[in-house]
Amino acid sequence: MDTLATRIKLNNGTSIPILGYGTYKIKDAADAYSSVKKALDLGYRHIDTAAFYENEKYVSNAIKDFIAEGKATREDIFVTSKVWKTELGYDKTLAAFEKTMDEMQLDYLDLYLVHWPSSYAFDDDWKNTNRNTWKAMMEIYKSGQVKAIGVSNFLPHHLETIIDMDVIPAVDQIEVNPGFLQKETVDYCHEKGILVEAWSPLGRGKSLEHPLLQELASKYGKSVAQIILRWEIQHDILPLPKSVTPSRIVENSEVFDFELSSDDMTAIDEIPPYGNSGHGPDEA
Ligand code: A2P
Repeated sequence: MDTLATRIKLNNGTSIPILGYGTYKIKDAADAYSSVKKALDLGYRHIDTAAFYENEKYVSNAIKDFIAEGKATREDIFVTSKVWKTELGYDKTLAAFEKTMDEMQLDYLDLYLVHWPSSYAFDDDWKNTNRNTWKAMMEIYKSGQVKAIGVSNFLPHHLETIIDMDVIPAVDQIEVNPGFLQKETVDYCHEKGILVEAWSPLGRGKSLEHPLLQELASKYGKSVAQIILRWEIQHDILPLPKSVTPSRIVENSEVFDFELSSDDMTAIDEIPPYGNSGHGPDEA
């Protein structure tokens, strides 16, 4: 049976644990530290942060303390951060990465992502901005300070601006929740060998109220959150649930001991838009 430590291969040969712990909106220093520490204690081995979350330092302190306590090695833990959308372009991306490394004080990151693409909607030179950002990302990758590079919130037309460059993104982290599968982007990524990660996999909690999902939870004897995470995993999407509640952190990790039938997968696929955020990459 898979566990939180089970890894899958990325397109550059690096491997990544199949479910991660998201830290968006956990800004408070003590909360960020204690919830990451809790997640690690409960077996999570994949932690996702970003410069924008303003918690890189506390997240990283929790990881370093966990390692110092002899509970894991650095290699056991997969750490992601991201460059924010005000820092796009070659020079700014390099500088943003240095700032992240200063904050986190780790020898290397496992994954560094471009948090949002540049878009025609707010940048006349958006294609070149994406290419220049990606040029900096490739340089960071080639320096050995990150094991893999990728993007976030890129739709196929954004990916097309960089897909011909030397390094293909290993990951695209996009919003996925019931009613918002983003199938076109998922299919594009899977065709190109790009792993899709899901942010807001539970629709910020809203998806938990959906009647069909509640019905399926009773049918499988699982929680609604577990049904949703399982649906994402069976779509080969890597979910990054976040919670500061210890019992929920545990609950969200117990998704490897059951399987949704293909009829139930289809029924969830057909849920109309429900709990998605409404934030897209082509809005200023
Ligand atoms: P909390 O952090 O208070 O436990 P998403 O990952 O889609 O952004 O959703 C995060 C939200 O969902 C948070 O408000 C979190 O609350 C809540 N949440 C996370 N896991 C669960 C769960 N297993 N059951 C109910 N609510 C959850």
